[in-house]
Amino acid sequence: MTAWWGGSTVRFMNTKPLQHSALQDAKPQSALPRTLVTGATAGIGQALALQLAQAGVPVLALGRNAQRLQALQDSHALIATVVCDLADVASLPAQAAQWVTRYPDLACVIHNAGVQDNVRMDDAGYDADQLRTEVDINLVAPMVLTQALLPHLQSKQQAWVVNITSGLGFVPKRTSAVYSATKAGLHLFSEGLRVQLQGSSVRVVEAVMPLVDTAMTQGRGTGKISPAQAASEVIAGLHKGHATVWVGKARAVPLLQRFAPRVLARIMQRG
Ligand SMILES: NC(=O)c1ccc[n+]([C@@H]2O[C@H](COP(=O)([O-])OP(=O)(O)OC[C@H]3O[C@@H](n4cnc5c(N)ncnc54)[C@H](OP(=O)(O)O)[C@@H]3O)[C@@H](O)[C@H]2O)c1
Repeated sequence: MTAWWGGSTVRFMNTKPLQHSALQDAKPQSALPRTLVTGATAGIGQALALQLAQAGVPVLALGRNAQRLQALQDSHALIATVVCDLADVASLPAQAAQWVTRYPDLACVIHNAGVQDNVRMDDAGYDADQLRTEVDINLVAPMVLTQALLPHLQSKQQAWVVNITSGLGFVPKRTSAVYSATKAGLHLFSEGLRVQLQGSSVRVVEAVMPLVDTAMTQGRGTGKISPAQAASEVIAGLHKGHATVWVGKARAVPLLQRFAPRVLARIMQRG
């Protein structure tokens, strides 16, 4: 493991200055600035990266898989990419410093990357390392990255921190106690950070996801929405200035929690 501020080398997939003609020609239909999207190699993150770029927003797409990042970068001139394993929490502050030096226009961060282990706490072979990795990727990494990027974001006229949470952060799933806890943590972190940043130029937004048809939910669940639908609802919510974006059926969570908590618990426990 590297030291907390250890100097791990950042691998930008795009080492050329941003001179793409599409960038120069782009007529942004959106007020959003350059946006860092974590977990952009698949699912909701990939849809977010593509839709933002298509709307004229320069994107810094982060993921672990260099091949998939390269394909994403090749698909749109406004997408630059960076290889980063968010589980290596200790390396994140130094990496974040390099990102903002390379992309000083970065003013929006979407903490989207996530993993979900479908296990019970008493399952044989489920150990502390696996548990901790899930917590690191889903909760510690967004917190550490936010802290590292905050001085830069606060120097902007307008900036955003966007956390992708889940209905499971409000009511847990039977086989994902740790995942549910990380999403509950990210939910409360969003609220706490919003309170801390009141009156500053940084908006804190939480986007609560329902079941979305991605690798994470492969082979389970019904009535899933597409990653494209989920991404477009998040982006629409950002444009509308919502503090919480309830995506798709997640909209029903607050109401059910209040008026039919047992029904909600039954639905959510199944996942
Ligand atoms: N799908 C749903 O129904 C659902 C519901 C509620 C909330 N969510 C949340 O929505 C977000 C996106 O989920 P998804 O369904 O789109 O998942 P997905 O299709 O499985 O994609 C997950 C993304 O996270 C990245 N990732 C995982 N571990 C990483 C690490 N250590 N470092 C860097 N990147 C990492 C993956 O990159 P690599 O492939 O390169 O590792 C991938 O791009 C997650 O936060 C998830 O919890 C999803």
